[in-house]
Amino acid sequence: MLENGPVAALERVSVRYGSVAALSDVTLEVARGEILGVVGESGAGKSTLLRLLDAAEHPSVGRVRIHGADPQRLRGREIRALRRRIGMVFQSFNLLANRTARQNVALPLVLQRTKDPALVAELLDYVGLADRAESYPAQLSGGQRQRVAIARALVTRPGLLLADEPTSALDTRATEDVLALLASTRRDFGTAVVLVTHELDSVAAIADRAAVLERGALRSAFPVARSAAAARPDSYVDHVHRVLGA
Ligand SMILES: Nc1ncnc2c1ncn2[C@@H]1O[C@H](COP(=O)(O)OP(=O)(O)OP(=O)(O)O)[C@@H](O)[C@H]1O
Ligand SMILES: [Mg+2]
Repeated sequence: MLENGPVAALERVSVRYGSVAALSDVTLEVARGEILGVVGESGAGKSTLLRLLDAAEHPSVGRVRIHGADPQRLRGREIRALRRRIGMVFQSFNLLANRTARQNVALPLVLQRTKDPALVAELLDYVGLADRAESYPAQLSGGQRQRVAIARALVTRPGLLLADEPTSALDTRATEDVLALLASTRRDFGTAVVLVTHELDSVAAIADRAAVLERGALRSAFPVARSAAAARPDSYVDHVHRVLGA
C-alpha cells in the first residue's frame, strides 16, 4: 500500500444525516507531521470531519483515505489495525473513572492483548504525570486528565492524532500546557495533529494551517501567519489584564 502521500485525505466528501448536510463536497488533505487547525461555528461539521478521519463514520458521497487506505473497503481486523494508527482526544477526556492514570494509558494495549509497562511509564513521564500514575481521574485536575488522555492516545504510536475541542473545558494555563504538549508530540514523534477548536488563539499558537468550515462547506484552508502567535500572554495575570483591563 502506498504511504508516501498525505496521512489522510478527503476527496469531494459529503455526509448527510437525513435532510441535514453535515459536510458538503469537502476536499482536504492532512500532510505528514502537520498541525491542522479546524475552526467553524457550532454545527459547522467539525466533529463529523473528525469522525471520518477516525474511520468511525463513512461518507455518503466521495472518498476518504487514511494512511493510504480506504476505510470503507477494510474488514474488521484491518479496520482495527488502521484505527490503532489514529489517536483521538475529546473535550470531556473520556477516561475510565474506575481506572488509574496508568491503567487508562495502558487501555489501548490491553484491548490489543499486549502489555508494555515501560512504554506506559514513558508516556506518563512525557506528559509530566509520572508522579500521578496511581491517581484516579477524580483526583486529577482537568488539565491533568487531558494529559492522561493524550498519553493514552499516543500509546499505540499513531501517525495521526485527532483532537476535538481538547481545551474547551480548561483554563488558560491548562490550555497552554495541552497545546504545548500537542506541539511537542508533532516535534518528537512526527505525529500529524488535527485540532478542532472554537479558539482561534489555540490555532494561532500551534497550527501550521487553518481550515474553516461553514455549514458543512470548507470555505478556506490557508497557512497560519507566524505573527498570529506573537500575542501569547506570558502569565495568568497578564492574560487577565489583557482581557479585562482598560
Ligand atoms: N448522528 C447525527 N445524526 C443527525 N445529525 C447529526 C449527527 N451528527 C451530527 N449531526 C448534524 O450535523 C451537523 C454538523 O454536526 P457536527 O457535530 O459535525 O458539528 P460541529 O462543528 O462539531 O459542532 P460543535 O462545535 O457544536 O461541536 C449539525 O447540524 C448536527 O446537528
Ligand atoms: Mg463538535
